[in-house]
Amino acid sequence: MHAPDPTDAQLAAQSAAREADQLLSEATARLHAAGVPSPRVDAEILTAHVLGVSRGRLAAMTLAGSAVPASQADRITELIAERAERIPLQHLTGLAPFRHMELRVGPGVFIPRPETEQVAQAALDQLGRMAAQRPASWRPRVIDLGTGSGALAGAIAAEHPSAEVHAVELSPQAAAWAQLNLDPLGVTLHQQDLREVPEDWEASFDVVVSNPPYIPAGMVPREAEVRVHDPELALYGGGDDGLIMPRAVIETAKRLLKPGGWFILEHAEAQADALAEHCRRDPWLSAVSTHQDLTGRDRATSAVADLDPAAVVEEWRA
Ligand SMILES: C[S@@+](CC[C@H](N)C(=O)[O-])C[C@H]1O[C@@H](n2cnc3c(N)ncnc32)[C@H](O)[C@@H]1O
Repeated sequence: MHAPDPTDAQLAAQSAAREADQLLSEATARLHAAGVPSPRVDAEILTAHVLGVSRGRLAAMTLAGSAVPASQADRITELIAERAERIPLQHLTGLAPFRHMELRVGPGVFIPRPETEQVAQAALDQLGRMAAQRPASWRPRVIDLGTGSGALAGAIAAEHPSAEVHAVELSPQAAAWAQLNLDPLGVTLHQQDLREVPEDWEASFDVVVSNPPYIPAGMVPREAEVRVHDPELALYGGGDDGLIMPRAVIETAKRLLKPGGWFILEHAEAQADALAEHCRRDPWLSAVSTHQDLTGRDRATSAVADLDPAAVVEEWRA
């Protein structure tokens, strides 16, 4: 009794099956040649994605000399070719890691960045400090202006579960991704302009968070992943300094915050001084603070919104 002869398809599959280690080396070389900044990591992530395994398991497979079946090897090769065309890695996997979440992303939405995780952390720390001074039943109202995929709103809803979280996004394409990510977390999404919030939202939030568009008009990003694939609405803040949208976020935050409420917004390192100065000059704001990212760069500004009685009198006299 001998085993039946393999079919043509089985033979073809066998002939094209590849050793994981060799597949990865070739993929890395191809991405390196295309100028992809982290070729080995991207090759591993795409290979692990197709195989449905973790990167740790993939490493074990390469050490063991495991083979990758032909159909999966072909799919990996296709994805590597797309990545070599500088399609963002996250568009190819459909997922972007952000803190404890894997956000669903794709064309039409800004891919969340690691530095924004620090903005979420600062907001969570602030919520912790505020909660410590309030009754245990306190349910803070938090709003994320320009939520994109829902990164900040989602992280806060997941990590401060007592918060009632809202998110605002103008782009219908981005809002569709945000909906996918935020619905399961109970966040309320509003598709509208962050500069035109309804009157009945005024003075009703405890914390405002935002990573608005802030790139200056003339500073077109060099990386194709950003320049071609991140939506323009997500990138350019308006004006030569890119600060039109960040300032608009501050104005909206002042309207939305209860007295004593707190906001934080992300910005470029070069904009930190101008934004801190802008907030310090505003009589409705106090406790202006600049926050660093993990590499020590000044990447976010926060302030407390509180009515300065002297300013009110001054305005009344004018
Ligand atoms: C830099 S992206 C950040 C997205 C998300 N907060 C994050 O950190 O991944 C800025 C977002 O603001 C949105 N946006 C731009 N102008 C807006 C406006 N006037 N009103 C509401 N959202 C706006 C863009 O569509 C984009 O999703």
